[in-house]
Amino acid sequence: MCGIVGAIAERDVVPILMEGLRRLEYRGYDSAGIAVVDANQKMIRLRRVGKVKALQDGLDENPVVGVIGISHTRWATHGEPNEVNAHPQSSGDHLSIVHNGIIENYLSLKQELLDAGYEFESETDTEVVAHRIDFHLQKNNDLLAAVRATVAELVGAYALVIVSSKFPDRLIAARCGTPVVLGLGEGENYVASDVAALLPVTRRFIFLEDGDVADITVASMKVLDSEGNNPDRPVRKSQLSENAMDKGQYSHFMLKEIHEQPEAVANTLAERVAGGHLLEQAFGHKAHEVFSKTRAVHIIACGTSYHAGLVARYQIEQICRLPCSVDIASEYRYRNAVVADNTLYVTISQSGETLDTLEALRAAKKKGYLAHLAICNVPESSLIRESDLVLMTRAGPEIGVASTKAFTTQLTALALLAIALGRGGALDADTEQKLIGQLMQLPDLLKQTLKLDEEIKELAKRFADKLHALFLGRGIQHPIAMEGALKLKEISYIHAEAYPAGELKHGPLALVDDDMPVVTVAPNNELLEKLKSNLQEVRARGGELFVFADPDAGFKSEPGVTVLTMPAHVEEMQAPIVYTLPLQLLSYYADVIKGTDIDKPRNLAKSVTVE
Ligand code: G6P
Repeated sequence: MCGIVGAIAERDVVPILMEGLRRLEYRGYDSAGIAVVDANQKMIRLRRVGKVKALQDGLDENPVVGVIGISHTRWATHGEPNEVNAHPQSSGDHLSIVHNGIIENYLSLKQELLDAGYEFESETDTEVVAHRIDFHLQKNNDLLAAVRATVAELVGAYALVIVSSKFPDRLIAARCGTPVVLGLGEGENYVASDVAALLPVTRRFIFLEDGDVADITVASMKVLDSEGNNPDRPVRKSQLSENAMDKGQYSHFMLKEIHEQPEAVANTLAERVAGGHLLEQAFGHKAHEVFSKTRAVHIIACGTSYHAGLVARYQIEQICRLPCSVDIASEYRYRNAVVADNTLYVTISQSGETLDTLEALRAAKKKGYLAHLAICNVPESSLIRESDLVLMTRAGPEIGVASTKAFTTQLTALALLAIALGRGGALDADTEQKLIGQLMQLPDLLKQTLKLDEEIKELAKRFADKLHALFLGRGIQHPIAMEGALKLKEISYIHAEAYPAGELKHGPLALVDDDMPVVTVAPNNELLEKLKSNLQEVRARGGELFVFADPDAGFKSEPGVTVLTMPAHVEEMQAPIVYTLPLQLLSYYADVIKGTDIDKPRNLAKSVTVE
């Protein structure tokens, strides 16, 4: 989603603001802007439609220098992506603000401002906030007080950073429902929507909580909560390495992240197992108490993370013999779900900031679940802070919008959860040891699977010109087919749908002809023969089949059927993770041929912090 950076220093802050934007650009990117107070105490603002590069070109033509400023990359919500709607938004010639989130009551606030004589240039909710701050400043010439009075009137979600040339010694930041992090420097201070933006300048961070407003000067950071008290907000040190954000030898982050999966999965398993057993405490000190009481599981997530939840359902039912339901977060929020006694609520999120998932967790807290567990990749995220139990995936920063290593590490973490939950009941010690052993083989299996890279690159040539594709899977492979279809649509804009293979004959078979490629994943499991029959239905209608198959599954390439043999037989516990990789590579290479913007697909954002 949108990205925010702010800085106050005794040197020019423009390079800090621009580098921060480049690091956040993966989150949202239809326009970008910057506002700084220059040496003559004048507010200078520059905005451009398009990527951060367009803004940098603008700055190269009209250089701007200043010791205090803010910058923003926008992913449009209110108003189309044009220069007028880009941030910073301003009020008069002195005040500039950047905003992530959505203000729900902006129209009523706007009306009052129109009545008071304010004029509006943009269609944004953000401009309303800018004028509102100015409106309060007229009564009381104190920027911090004016921002506090304004946020008290706002309904919705926001991360805000405000600068005014009338107060050139401070930045004000505010948070409600959308992340804000303060960065502590030496004789300078920063603010951003994500630590990643500030890693080149600091490792020391303070995370604002909902309702907080921060007053930031070169020498100090003062945080006030919504009551006006000074809450204790600890300084945390980030372990993220700066070059986690570089593409290295790869042409895209997505390809780099696909190839990082053996290591990411190994990191997710490390220290969570010992002597063939799972270390339950990895989920938190209350884990044993909670897991031993758990009688049902309810999983909530969005997008790719939702697909991970669907895979986990099969494992939790199979291994633990516990009922498990899976919901899309934006649906769960507005559904009056019935909660059985002792149900564990599990959220899955790469970012830990997806608003739908966070709000679903908040809604769930009123429903009497046994406990709330989060599977997440960002330790500093809101989801982690608001959950009782946590298992971090250790994928490292994922920059490509299309999720890859975050997904396979989620699957790994969820497999550990299934083992942890099974242990108190249906799962005996020998089976636990066997399953853990299978998980430990994954990094090696993934490395072998990545060797299919060149073969899949060739295969992708037959895909790139297609308008539609079908993905089929059965059982636990159905969500993997769904994830394969999502990858293809997200980055290549090819319309792709996934179906359980047995459902094909109930409708989608009507779409199959010689222009409809059908992709399927075929591990050698108990459903293999059923899958083969379903594939015959496709062949009989002239559909072209692409099968990623187990070496012993008995598939052979023939006209109309292309079989790509996987490097090894894999077990049921391993198959969802291993079979994900060829589907990721297939969409990646189809996109390379199509020439789409792979790491930053149109209309999408990495972390969606609006409803
Ligand atoms: C966005 C991203 C998806 C992601 C989804 C959920 O839509 O583009 O790749 O799966 O959000 O994100 P989360 O951070 O909660 O896993």
